[in-house]
Amino acid sequence: MSYQKALLLEKAKGPFVVADIPKPKPGPGQLSIKVQAAALNPVDWKIQAFDFLVKEYPTVLGSDIAGDVEEIGEGVEGFAKGEKVFTQGYFVKEMGGFQQYVIIPAENVGKMPSNIDYAQAATIPLGFNTAAIGLLRAQPEGAGLNPTFDPDVSYAGEPALVVGGSTSVGQYVIQVFKLLGYSTIVAYASARHADHLKSLGATHVVDRGEVPIDKLAETVKKIAGTPFRIAYNAIGDDASHAACVDTIAEGGQVADVKSTLGHKTINGKRVLGIMGSSHYPPHKEFGRILWKNLPSLVQEGAIKPNRLEKVPNGLAGIDEGLQKMKANKVSGIKLVAFPQETI
Ligand SMILES: NC(=O)c1ccc[n+]([C@@H]2O[C@H](COP(=O)([O-])OP(=O)(O)OC[C@H]3O[C@@H](n4cnc5c(N)ncnc54)[C@H](OP(=O)(O)O)[C@@H]3O)[C@@H](O)[C@H]2O)c1
Repeated sequence: MSYQKALLLEKAKGPFVVADIPKPKPGPGQLSIKVQAAALNPVDWKIQAFDFLVKEYPTVLGSDIAGDVEEIGEGVEGFAKGEKVFTQGYFVKEMGGFQQYVIIPAENVGKMPSNIDYAQAATIPLGFNTAAIGLLRAQPEGAGLNPTFDPDVSYAGEPALVVGGSTSVGQYVIQVFKLLGYSTIVAYASARHADHLKSLGATHVVDRGEVPIDKLAETVKKIAGTPFRIAYNAIGDDASHAACVDTIAEGGQVADVKSTLGHKTINGKRVLGIMGSSHYPPHKEFGRILWKNLPSLVQEGAIKPNRLEKVPNGLAGIDEGLQKMKANKVSGIKLVAFPQETI
């Protein structure tokens, strides 16, 4: 049996430990991928701190992966060994990105566009999935704005709001709103990120250092001048959620990264908590469509990766990166680790 290095979370709320574990073999319909870059996400430190989503320990976390096709499972067509790919990890050991080799269903793997490198590719999967599932996927799980990625769909003339515009998810939300043709795209974020968010498609950035969250709805309604039918909460706390709900008109929708909100309609306004994974069984079909479309959107420059900072020391450096994230010391960028650099 051949072995690989992995960052194991050995038990619920336990420490992360670099260990040698067997290299997994792909089953039918799956690919094994040599992980060249794996991005860090808030969910990773939150799972370690609070123990949710994971059903069995020891496990390996990591939701953002870029690398090379290592082995091809039975029945998989269209991939070749050594090909560069990117994909989303999931909350089972074999599918976590914080190891040197992962197993992923081929239908949720995209060919890596030639205009980005491994690290940039690893910043895309979770953030883009969470934005696209919330906005594009059919109701009730999504807002249903364009479930088939039809290039002719347009919301020209309409305004859209994203609270948390500088988060990784928020940056993809801005780009999805732009793809959908929204005329006014308002992002609520720190002023220091304004130029970057405008380069992604935001037409207005409301400085969260200047406008308190409870005054946001009033401010953005003045900016737009026409009713909002969509808002996205990329922060997930109650105050941001309330600002989104107050912003939209009756009949409008709020997509929210707080997945436990479920789907409900209150006072004529639809609220949906997003599970941002194309591996999540109810999203499987939309996930297949998403992974067919995402590589060309990136290749064309319509979807740009997050800015990033490289995490040193391979898998051993990830814990420190997650602690930085937990302490709110990561601003407007994605942290990316390189599992093959593990000593
Ligand atoms: N439901 C799902 O499937 C799903 C998927 C992915 C993420 N999430 C959740 O979505 C949230 C965002 O994740 P992420 O990875 O995109 O975050 P991230 O990139 O780590 O977010 C960091 C950014 O958040 C901004 N920020 C923090 N508090 C803010 C506030 N009150 N208002 C506006 N901006 C604020 C910071 O801005 P400054 O630089 O201005 O301080 C910083 O740039 C997290 O809670 C995460 O757990 C959920």
